[in-house]
Amino acid sequence: MNKQDELKRAAAEAAYEHVRDGEYLGVGTGSTVNHFIDVLAERRPEISGCVSSSKATTERLRAAGFDVVDLNSSGALGVYIDGADEANEHLELIKGGGGALTREKIIAGAARTFVCMVDESKQVDLLGRFPLPVEVIEMARSSVARALVKLGGEPELRTGFISDNGHPILDVHNLEILNPIELEDAINALPGVVTVGLFARRPADVLIVGTPDGVQVSRRSA
Ligand code: 5RP
Repeated sequence: MNKQDELKRAAAEAAYEHVRDGEYLGVGTGSTVNHFIDVLAERRPEISGCVSSSKATTERLRAAGFDVVDLNSSGALGVYIDGADEANEHLELIKGGGGALTREKIIAGAARTFVCMVDESKQVDLLGRFPLPVEVIEMARSSVARALVKLGGEPELRTGFISDNGHPILDVHNLEILNPIELEDAINALPGVVTVGLFARRPADVLIVGTPDGVQVSRRSA
């Protein structure tokens, strides 16, 4: 395991402390989440089942012997555990590097507690160095791209990629996101946008950061 993977694994182990027996658990997507699924597989909590944010995560959870149910049948969701591409001090995030942003945002919105796990390379003062993913309806790809240029970004179509929902993704480069909530609202308001990977209206509640000196945990003030 390389250094970054060790930090991700440490963050995943710390995130496990938030898992509650008898509840449905929301599980995100990505390499940090894959470490978390490994931890789940080793410790085998008595959860009611999982709600998954992607086909890849569903496959992995089922292979590890966990029941995966639809969000429509799980009822209220307790904890949602996921990674991120960037996180700031307000626990606002950029997500969607793995292309699962829409389902991730739906599950985060439905969960009582959103626990985000990252390695220290994901911590930033200002969001936007990581290209901001925007999932769009295919016919709106160009019109949304032009509007994103007006908002100051440089959108690039993610080539060879279609989301689990059947849509393309534009990755928007060179944004300096000074006001994440304002930008999230502005992009969400563009006709044809399915989801923007800014998680500012619904940031994480708990951020677990793997560092060489151990994990650091911050909580969002109410
Ligand atoms: C997937 C995501 C992931 O959480 C994000 O891309 C981080 O991935 P990783 O844990 O592999 O660094 O938002 O859509």
